[in-house]
Amino acid sequence: MAPFDLVIFGGTGDLAMRKLLPALLHRFVDGQIGTGTRIYGVARDARSDEAYRGRVREAVAGIAAADPRVAEAVDAFLALLHYRQLDLASEDGWPAFAEEIGHGPDRVRVFYLAVGPSLFANVADRLASVGLAGGGTRVVVEKPIGKDGASAQVINEALGRVFEESQVFRIDHYLGKETVQNLTALRFGNALFEPLWKAEHIDHVQITVAETVGVEGRAAYYDKSGALRDMVQNHLLQLLCLVAMEPPASLAADAIRDEKLKVLRALRPIGNGNASQMTVRGQYRAGAVDGQAVPGYLDELGGPSHTETFVAIKAEVQNWRWAGVPFYLRTGKRLAERMSEIVVTFRRVPHSIFGDPADGSASPLAPNKLVIRLQPDEGVKLWLMNKVPGPGGMRMREVAMDLSFAETFGGRQPDAYERLLMDVVRGNPMLFMRRDEVDAAWQWIDPIRAAWEAGHDAPKPYTAGGWGPSAAVALIERDGRTWHEDAQ
Ligand code: BG6
Repeated sequence: MAPFDLVIFGGTGDLAMRKLLPALLHRFVDGQIGTGTRIYGVARDARSDEAYRGRVREAVAGIAAADPRVAEAVDAFLALLHYRQLDLASEDGWPAFAEEIGHGPDRVRVFYLAVGPSLFANVADRLASVGLAGGGTRVVVEKPIGKDGASAQVINEALGRVFEESQVFRIDHYLGKETVQNLTALRFGNALFEPLWKAEHIDHVQITVAETVGVEGRAAYYDKSGALRDMVQNHLLQLLCLVAMEPPASLAADAIRDEKLKVLRALRPIGNGNASQMTVRGQYRAGAVDGQAVPGYLDELGGPSHTETFVAIKAEVQNWRWAGVPFYLRTGKRLAERMSEIVVTFRRVPHSIFGDPADGSASPLAPNKLVIRLQPDEGVKLWLMNKVPGPGGMRMREVAMDLSFAETFGGRQPDAYERLLMDVVRGNPMLFMRRDEVDAAWQWIDPIRAAWEAGHDAPKPYTAGGWGPSAAVALIERDGRTWHEDAQ
């Protein structure tokens, strides 16, 4: 790939150190980042290039220790790094910085805004004022884009005043995960699933993104956000869209994004009238995760708060394909295990010829399930009814056909940011959110939040290390269904 410039605003922050720079190092090791490329970390305090490189060296020490190819490449990678001190809220220093970067249209310049959304407009304006917003420039913005529809519009308009939509890359890192991309491969690369992929054959869908971590020192951000904005508005809705969308005509970015948008627009509104039946929000109390005692959310925060660290929602896509098929979404912090999966549960066979569970002559036939495991243990399982071998008659049991990515493909699963960063450099927007998608997602989320706020009720407590409040179990059990638990 031709050499490029990548500038990370927030270059000393958590995202840069934990995700962006390690991802770039891996791409460098694989030969995708050539000499002549310049990577700038930008932040407010004074620091030399050498000091910055030292800090990045520490941040990548773990991945270097795990892989000799990475260890060998670290010095050469660090030589591509530079540090520049800039105050994003002031005009000082920008002309000199622009001079250094250069304005030429022939070199790709990526500006990654790994800073709070309140600074997006400032950075866009500064870049424009020093002539860095033209051809060759791409800007990357992280979720959350705003805290609601109105603030997202302000941000998107500020970006839109300076950049063409094709220059703006809105990251939802879930779209860069291999397993999430495989969702599209599975649905549209096989003849098997698509004919069954509709209300006639699918009973319901579950999407779970469970985390064991707490707020990880991000309480100041998180307490203003909460799980609905932090996870549902973006990651979970994007997953829902990929499951529910119509087949796009091609893999062209807008072909896919048009279909996702239609799903978002078809979501049944949840607000004042129905939020209490369709949603559950929770907040963790002290407990134990992986055998370790952990404090409660309020202890970590050091004050009172009604911010939710868990959400469960019964969503519905109101169109012909999905009429009457619930999509149960849940996500939370400090849950029993780190596990993200999509479970598609098919309808039961119309009639069992294997005896009647009611009179004890047979066990019930479980419905088929397709379980797409996003992380960890990435893979796909198809649960089928089978005869238990032996002469004891037609005894039936549910067993899984199990495709493990690690066993099948071996090797390292690249991190989502590796793919996404290189896609920005290539100018491929397929895995990024278009402005209207962000708006449509907020349009669905805002009334849920408004209903919660109007209700004034505190989130339901749950013990860290469990599966969230019991109300989340009730949400699905009321419909005669249960959250999927892997039995094998
Ligand atoms: C981020 C959220 O977008 O996703 C975090 O802000 C969350 O709160 C993270 O922990 C989860 O990402 P992953 O890739 O670890 O599942």
